[in-house]
Amino acid sequence: MNMHNKHTADATSVEEGLAIAQAQDEQFTSEFATETAMQNTLLTPRFYTTDFDELDAIDVSGVREDWDKLIAQMEADPNKGHFKKNKDWDHVDWDGMEPQLKKEFIDFLISSCTSEFSGCVLYKEMKRRGNNKDITQLFQLMARDEARHAGFINDALREAGLRVNLGFLTQKKKYTYFRPKFIYYATYLSEKIGYARYITIFRHLEAHPEHRFHPIFKWFCEWCNDEFSHGEAFALLMKTDPKLTQGINVYWIKFFLTAVYATMYVRDHQRPAFHKALGVDPDWYAHEVFTKTSKLSEQIFPITLDIEHPRWQPGLERLQKANADLAEATGLKKIAAQARAAAAFLSLLTIPAKRHTVPVNTRLEPVY
Ligand SMILES: [Fe+2]
Ligand SMILES: [Fe+2]
Repeated sequence: MNMHNKHTADATSVEEGLAIAQAQDEQFTSEFATETAMQNTLLTPRFYTTDFDELDAIDVSGVREDWDKLIAQMEADPNKGHFKKNKDWDHVDWDGMEPQLKKEFIDFLISSCTSEFSGCVLYKEMKRRGNNKDITQLFQLMARDEARHAGFINDALREAGLRVNLGFLTQKKKYTYFRPKFIYYATYLSEKIGYARYITIFRHLEAHPEHRFHPIFKWFCEWCNDEFSHGEAFALLMKTDPKLTQGINVYWIKFFLTAVYATMYVRDHQRPAFHKALGVDPDWYAHEVFTKTSKLSEQIFPITLDIEHPRWQPGLERLQKANADLAEATGLKKIAAQARAAAAFLSLLTIPAKRHTVPVNTRLEPVY
């Protein structure tokens, strides 16, 4: 991964969006949120497409017992009524919110909504194109959850006078093609890291409710259980074909782990006011989330990244700094910043991974 592309939702456009939001022009503000969601950079959530026929051909009979249990659990739909505002939804004082916090928080909501919806679009498409009952059933259930998640965030944005136009995104946002195996690695990781991110914030705010500056965080516990189940499904899909986690593919797994962790680190460090309001040190948070995600991913991946290695944290910091400089730079300075970002990423990628034996039983329960 390089960090060459345009910076994520840049500061001025978010400020402009907020100014417009305050002017109460509903249509225009929705355009702003949608435009932010339309951006395709290395740091913003993308939409994916894949070889749906290859995915449809997966035979889950080798993991049948675990599969049926997981599907039954998802079909029981424990979170059916969860994603609705109720009496726990406290009033949000958007006008009184400190401007920098408001800007970063809105950026967080738009980015989260886009990424939830990205899952929804991919899963729905698989359901539409497939004929394999096991596969279409799973993807239907996951699309259902992601649609709720995206819709709920959009409800929260609406109170700030913003809305991501999801229908427009579906039609107009650029789709990135990934071979099915890359979809497995990337999506499995994004589900598990999503679980780890949501539960870490939830547990932190449980202990420090005075930092809960918005009610949406109260919904994160049940929410993250949905992401956990989705990750479990991808672990089982990968288990149907041992080649996916052997040989040269181990290098691909390492690449995806490094890219996903590094992207999270850089993206979160662009939101200092947001993390300060939560009372969370982004370095601590990143380490905590990586630790949990690594522990979980041992269920299927034969390696984990050595996040205690002396080159790990300095590498992330260099990448983050290079990326911040890149956003400001032009001309030769830009090329220099790109080279620094590439070197920092390469340095992270070449840290020796930790190997372990993958357990016979794949299934896990959410315990954090
Ligand atoms: Fe989700
Ligand atoms: Fe998910």
